[in-house]
Amino acid sequence: MCFSSCHADHEQNCSTSAVRSVGSSDVDPYSAVAAGIAALYGRLHGGANEAVLQMLRHIEKVENVPDFLEKVKQREEKLMGFGHRVYKNYDPRARIIKSHADEVFEATEYNPLIEIATELERHALEDEYFVSRKLFPNVDFYSGIIYEALKIPPGMFTVIFAIPRTAGWIAQWLEMTGDPDKKISRPRQIYTGAREADYIPLGERGGDDLITGPPATRPLS
Ligand code: SDX
Repeated sequence: MCFSSCHADHEQNCSTSAVRSVGSSDVDPYSAVAAGIAALYGRLHGGANEAVLQMLRHIEKVENVPDFLEKVKQREEKLMGFGHRVYKNYDPRARIIKSHADEVFEATEYNPLIEIATELERHALEDEYFVSRKLFPNVDFYSGIIYEALKIPPGMFTVIFAIPRTAGWIAQWLEMTGDPDKKISRPRQIYTGAREADYIPLGERGGDDLITGPPATRPLS
């Protein structure tokens, strides 16, 4: 099915960067790919397809869509399966996957979550908040619904995503390890925190207030 091509590796997404970064220390390809899978599993990355199903179940019915989107605008919720660092328009992969949804549901049992997803997409694509931020469905918005219809367990979603992507990861690993000028990945960062700090005895340090304010360091992008 077209899914493999829709999940193929493309450019330096989070998981591919993890493969190259870990691979740069001269590990074997299995360890480098394991690092990529770990990154892909994250809900902001490949794990978003499972997070979309959780979000749709949380919305529960089509009538709740407007209220949910208001919570997204208040930043109380995130619209999983929407947005992309590079695709600031409708992810072409999402369009392809969505076009196969009807075929899948004809061959399997209908998944009512598709109605909530379709209504969510319709509202978001007409709402200035999302349009102005260039938030459109990405590859993960419809894939989880279809995986579920195909009876693929959620614990296997990342595996299904990683299988076609591994060909690209290995190509990246081979290109990098074959480069005579290869160097170990070692990003730098700029410390922007306080220069002076009083010592606070451990027992007086309190709880969450340890991490307050903006990050004290910022990686050089
Ligand atoms: C994949 O890189 C790749 O190519 C990834 C991938 C691949 O093939 O490897 O395509 C696979 O990971 C797809 C993405 C799957 N993740 C999700 O669906 C999780 C939900 N999406 C977001 O978390 C987010 O959109 C990201 C992580 C995908 C992108 O994050 P960015 O680049 O930091 O988001 P941005 O800078 O474009 O955000 C612009 C604005 C911000 O608001 P303001 O501060 O300007 O007011 O849009 C907001 C963001 O807060 N925003 C969202 C949102 N995504 C961005 N608000 C609500 N819901 C969202 N999903």
